[in-house]
Amino acid sequence: MANRTRLSEGRIDQFFSGPNARADQWRELVDVAHAWLAGGKSRTDFETALLEMVPIEEFHAYPGPHLMAALRDNSAADDARSVLSLVTRISTALLTRSFRGHAGDWEIHDEGSESVPDLLPPTLGRSETHRPYFETLIVTGVPSERWPALCAEWRGLRRPLDAFIYEPVFVGSVEDAFCATMLNPDLAAVVINEGFVFRSRHDVPVLRTLSESLERKYKAELSALQLAQLLKRVRPELDIYIVSNRRVEELAGNPMADVARRVFYSIEELLELHLAILEGVQDRYDTPFFDNLKKYAQRPIGTFHALPIARGKSVFKSDWIRDMGEFYGPTLFLAESSATTGGLDSLLEPTGNIKIAQEKAARAFGADHVFFVTNGTSTSNKMAVQALLAPGDIAIVDRNCHKSHHYGMVLAGAQPLYVEAFPMTEYSMYGAVPLRTIKEALLNLKSENRLHRAKMLDLTNCTFDGHIYNTRRVMEECLAIKPDLIFLWDEAWFGFARFSPFLRPRTAMGAANDIETWLRDSASVAAYEKQQSELGKNPSNETLLKTRLIPDPRQVRLRVYQTNSTHKSMSALRQGSMLLVKDIDFHTVEAQFHEAVFTHASTSPNQQLIASLDVARRQMELEGYGLVGNAIEVSLAIRKAVAEHPLISKYFKILGADGMVPAEYRQSGFTDFLAPGSNWAIALRSMQDDEFCLDPTRMTLVCGTAGFDGTQFKGMLASRYNIQLNKTSRNSVLLQSNINNTRSDVAHLIRVLVEISHEIDQRLTQGGPNVRKTFEERVKSLMTDVPDLPNFSSFHESFRKDAGKRTNEGDIRGGFYTAYDAAGCEYIRLADPEIDRRLTNGPQLVSANFVIPYPPGFPIMVPGQVITKETIDFMRKLDVKEIHGYDATEGLKLVRPDALAKRAGATTKHAA
Ligand SMILES: Cc1ncc(COP(=O)(O)O)c(C=O)c1O
Repeated sequence: MANRTRLSEGRIDQFFSGPNARADQWRELVDVAHAWLAGGKSRTDFETALLEMVPIEEFHAYPGPHLMAALRDNSAADDARSVLSLVTRISTALLTRSFRGHAGDWEIHDEGSESVPDLLPPTLGRSETHRPYFETLIVTGVPSERWPALCAEWRGLRRPLDAFIYEPVFVGSVEDAFCATMLNPDLAAVVINEGFVFRSRHDVPVLRTLSESLERKYKAELSALQLAQLLKRVRPELDIYIVSNRRVEELAGNPMADVARRVFYSIEELLELHLAILEGVQDRYDTPFFDNLKKYAQRPIGTFHALPIARGKSVFKSDWIRDMGEFYGPTLFLAESSATTGGLDSLLEPTGNIKIAQEKAARAFGADHVFFVTNGTSTSNKMAVQALLAPGDIAIVDRNCHKSHHYGMVLAGAQPLYVEAFPMTEYSMYGAVPLRTIKEALLNLKSENRLHRAKMLDLTNCTFDGHIYNTRRVMEECLAIKPDLIFLWDEAWFGFARFSPFLRPRTAMGAANDIETWLRDSASVAAYEKQQSELGKNPSNETLLKTRLIPDPRQVRLRVYQTNSTHKSMSALRQGSMLLVKDIDFHTVEAQFHEAVFTHASTSPNQQLIASLDVARRQMELEGYGLVGNAIEVSLAIRKAVAEHPLISKYFKILGADGMVPAEYRQSGFTDFLAPGSNWAIALRSMQDDEFCLDPTRMTLVCGTAGFDGTQFKGMLASRYNIQLNKTSRNSVLLQSNINNTRSDVAHLIRVLVEISHEIDQRLTQGGPNVRKTFEERVKSLMTDVPDLPNFSSFHESFRKDAGKRTNEGDIRGGFYTAYDAAGCEYIRLADPEIDRRLTNGPQLVSANFVIPYPPGFPIMVPGQVITKETIDFMRKLDVKEIHGYDATEGLKLVRPDALAKRAGATTKHAA
């Protein structure tokens, strides 16, 4: 069985096996049972297959010991028919997840009930109220023979009043507790009783690789508190309860006990514990703003203010727009309001349920504060930049970042010092900015005594194409050079990463929390001082660039901001975004933040957007772990199918880490998730150590090798196959898996790729040599005749303001406003030879505005920038249709040389 091979090899795709792979294993077991009944396989085959599934099944409540024992008993009685019947029912219940609400699935014998698993969404198929289901992990020292009795005791605590229903899952060791936490996405709470052992009862290679690092770290001994810390690190959203029979006061007083929601004395308190578990889940389930909006929609409210659409009367009574009402349904209109009172709150000055909703979001995302934003991360970025930067401040910015940052700099009057990402010329895209480049910028500023002016480092993590920074290392090394530098991480695409233990340490907040822990550790000062004495008094810049710098924990002011487009990776409506703050000096900028909110936020924020941010948070806290695991699982399935399919792989490939990240930034030597010999432990090392790693959910599918440019291929997928995607490059398209994807989506995509590959194959085999030659030429043109990516040149002398000699910052706002003087600007068409003449003989061409091809959406020209030959070559070869700031009939908008001269004169006079 394919899965069994994978299990023993401990492959990465096995590790990321969520419910899908488990369901596969059960279906394969059904096949074995079928074959046994038909005579093709034996009872031993069945029993071997079942036995191999036992360790992982023990981490889940369903089918549980009762049904597993029934399977074993039926098998021992040589009753293949009963085995097949039961194994089929279990497999179906797991696949449809019906066991969460259908009691019959837990019975050994099918009582022939009529009830069919409810496959329809609740509003269509179910009328009775639905109680959400979860599982609670119980770590215990009680021998496993007594677990069934304990399980009965836990179930006995259920009351009809309970808002949720849960099943206990028992484990007796640290290793099993750890593996269950990693592998069971349904867990919402953990109860740790003292008396457990370290080693698992099972010896399964994939589990061993999962837990061997534990053994190294903890030397096979862990207290309940240490175990609580460990599990909380894997899944911070879980509620942890510790039950102790001794010294409970001492335990509760230990600062490490912060990770536990409550500490209980002995098992006598079982009902209290049960109620605490339900209350803990309720706390995550509560969505203060959404709950109030639902109540508001039920009230008979007469409106005598704006927003006639509220309550829907102008819609439903109309002959002409009633279809809108029918399309959206009455609830949307009942939930519309421009009120900020009567149970609702004001996004601009929240004091009630929006405030609480934001506090809950801060808890969920590991921040100190969260601002909900209803106009996309485009707005969150502008808010952060405006609040944190003032005119004259220098910000080190990835030139490649989203345009909102550049516009933010214009608004703030800050001086961007652009740094370059490593180019991926072959695919016409950029990677991320190497740490060396960032340190060099800071050290150059320092050499020129301008470091005090550098306020912020502004980067995109992960990039559109999936490059993830080593956020912790970047921040630590920068803080070693400038201890109060502010970090703005644009995680527009990466909000979901909080809910994966692999990705979390690489998020802004994950790293900030780790740095905070490090700052509190007494060993940190010693580490800093040791490095200082090794570096000596005045280390050269080259030495500092080569050294992994340690900051001085006593000097560091940790100031980290993250923006995320909640709508891009979680269940928020379009434009729902969050701005996360973890800033020890937030009190010094809080007033500015409110000004930034007032500047950018609409005074009529959309209620549904705010509610969806609240709900997205609830979902991620309760099922985000499984959903993100599923998104990763789906991406690995797509990667595998494309790589292994003989026909697809002839024309297409998905770039692995080695294709996306140059070897010098993959210090661990990691090549790809599915490379031979790769397992999850190796991938983990890459996540820990490498300068950049790849988000597996972002798949660059190279289509140039199939003769399609990115735009053409994207259009074909949309028009012929109803497959939507967003970003393209000259020879690739970007596929993204997210929490919404299913295996049917994967199947559809793979079928489509097979069909397209088949068509190409047929055309090439049936067409003559000319067809083949044309195809080869097209592939060559797409894959090798690619334009060089233009680096940022410099601001024109008259826009450099007071920039230093070695740094390239400039007055982007000054550049921006020159475009407002129509007489001072000129247009030259891209094909006009005048462009080439000016490039050779001058005067310099200076852009009057932003020129931003979309996608990818970063500016290849900013206002005041000197235009170089590389930029012109790139523009001339560019094959995207939408280029913001460029009108092909008018040409490039430039600042006239005489306007530049006038400006330079004015600047000099002013300076004198
Ligand atoms: C890196 C980055 N930041 C910010 C944004 C803007 O986000 P939003 O669409 O939520 O305004 C985008 C949009 O694509 C982006 O790619």
